[in-house]
Amino acid sequence: MINRHVLALVAIALTGFGCSQDPEPVVDEALDKDHYSFANSDQFVTDHLHLDLAVDFDGRELHGSATLIMRRVAAEADEIILDTRDLTIENVRFVLASGEPLDAAHRLGDVDDFLGTPLVIDVPTQLQEDPVLTVHIDYRTRPGSTALGWLPAELTAGGKHPFLFSQSQSIHARSWVPLQDTPAIRITYSARIQTPPELLAVMSANNDPNAERTGVYEFDMPQPIPAYLLAIAVGDLYFAEIGEDTGVYAEPELLDASAFEFADTQAMFETAEAMFGPYRWGRYDLLILPPSFPYGGMENPRLSFLTPSLLAGDRSLVSVVAHELAHSWSGNLVTNRTWRDGWLNEGWTSYLEYRLMQVIYDEDRADEENLISYRELLLNFETVDPQYQALAPDIRHVDPEGDSGSIAYHKGNLFLQYLENKFGRDVFDQFITDYFNEFAFQGITTEEFVDFLDERLLSVHHGIVSRAQVERWMYEPGLPGDAVLPTSANLDAAAAMAATWSKGEIDVFDLPISDWSPQATIHFINSLDANLATDKLSEIDAALGLSETQNAEIGRTWFIQVAERRHRPAYDGLARHLQRFGRTRLVRPVYVALAQNGEDAELAEQLFDEARGDYHPLTNASIERTFRRMSETAE
Ligand code: BES
Ligand code: ZN
Repeated sequence: MINRHVLALVAIALTGFGCSQDPEPVVDEALDKDHYSFANSDQFVTDHLHLDLAVDFDGRELHGSATLIMRRVAAEADEIILDTRDLTIENVRFVLASGEPLDAAHRLGDVDDFLGTPLVIDVPTQLQEDPVLTVHIDYRTRPGSTALGWLPAELTAGGKHPFLFSQSQSIHARSWVPLQDTPAIRITYSARIQTPPELLAVMSANNDPNAERTGVYEFDMPQPIPAYLLAIAVGDLYFAEIGEDTGVYAEPELLDASAFEFADTQAMFETAEAMFGPYRWGRYDLLILPPSFPYGGMENPRLSFLTPSLLAGDRSLVSVVAHELAHSWSGNLVTNRTWRDGWLNEGWTSYLEYRLMQVIYDEDRADEENLISYRELLLNFETVDPQYQALAPDIRHVDPEGDSGSIAYHKGNLFLQYLENKFGRDVFDQFITDYFNEFAFQGITTEEFVDFLDERLLSVHHGIVSRAQVERWMYEPGLPGDAVLPTSANLDAAAAMAATWSKGEIDVFDLPISDWSPQATIHFINSLDANLATDKLSEIDAALGLSETQNAEIGRTWFIQVAERRHRPAYDGLARHLQRFGRTRLVRPVYVALAQNGEDAELAEQLFDEARGDYHPLTNASIERTFRRMSETAE
């Protein structure tokens, strides 16, 4: 395929975007370079990884070995560089074809706070002709590993057993396995994991729902995956079947509730296959984590990891499952080559999630969620630097989990809705399956995507959407003027009710609450008049049960308002919300709203100090970063 990097760069240069705050020219740099990995993956690539690890809850460490089967792709190369972060490397050796070990000289490079530490391994002269090398590394993790959540029993549902889970995306796999931590490289893997015998280990691999609890578990992942999809969890886990291809793992206390909440997963699975092409990963199961899991969901292949805050009791938050399932195509099958291309994962997945929600539930619900996402996008545009508002921004110098909020998600989704709208659903649906077939099990850049789009859609149906229009989405801030903007009649009605009630024109008991979806309630709360008196806020709190809600998204929305409006009567509820959940999305914006309301910056810090011991290191890092940035802008 022709590479159009040059054209893309012209587009960047023309808009001035991408260069404004960055003195280094982008032009001479390949767009497929991964700035987040030390690995010399242009010289060696890993094909297979074998892990042999013991899980030590007392020491909060994994220890054992990683064996990498690596292929030489550059004749001259005489060293292998791997990514690590906070790993103790005990020994490195090559395993010769005869099975004999050969000790390898190796050293750790300088620590980079952001990227970790390169592990440099010398390739001895006798191996310099070998096309395939087997590298065996004995190592242990440290308790502060950024990927690993080590939970004492108190922080689990059952309260009796400890729990461990990993979160490798984006660049944390290196904090539990020494490897080439770049989404450009795919590996198959196998593993042998030792745990306390009463616990079960699961991985992003071939889990066995009926595995006997022996304390030794073996895994195989025959489909090649990028390192960020490497995942493990260990806990008091049990399995419940949902459908033929689907099921859920959870602590026994949450198993029934989980099977109920996610009962539609099998239907989602079948719908997704019908719409996006074959599911290529075998089974699709869910894993319910403890509350400190930092995300709503993580698309670990064959086994999506989910926050327990989705257990609202009414299946109202399952769009997260639709989302993680959809990643089995967009992300896991066709992967962003670098983190700059993250929208190819998240934007595509948000669009497929929207399509699934239309079919599994109905258009009204999909429209409601679409409009709520769009409003979040508009809020993001207010706070995110214009240079990071592009779908494919130049993010070389910033954290890939940084602060661009949900732009890749919602702007990416709107871009694909725009294409669907312009070309018609039938044509676009064919494009979707062609796209997944063409790039299955590969990583691609934004520019490769645009080339493919041009070849298969823009040029074939000439005169509908131009390449320049597409590049406007990719490289410029904000939304193009001809974007198709979401609408929802239900949410409009809820907003109108909020205005009517705010003005005192309707009694709280006459609000049509029972007709509202949780999404309508969220929109109602967000549409309340900015100057409502305290007693009016208390009245709506009591009538809708907001401070006591079981729905974490309603709680999030309400407590952001409570903090912004300094509605003190609900501060106890707010503190409980911050203690109860650890998902970054649910807590960080509440701290931000408190810290920014002009009075409660200290209270925000104090509440964070009280809760942070129960949060994941990634959540804490994200909140700390936000506090730091706020105090810098205040100075
Ligand atoms: N892959 C993401 C989670 C992620 C993104 C982890 C970037 C690390 C870095 C996952 O698929 C996701 O998007 N989760 C969302 C839920 C979704 C419905 C928007 C979340 O956790 O909020
Ligand atoms: Zn996602």
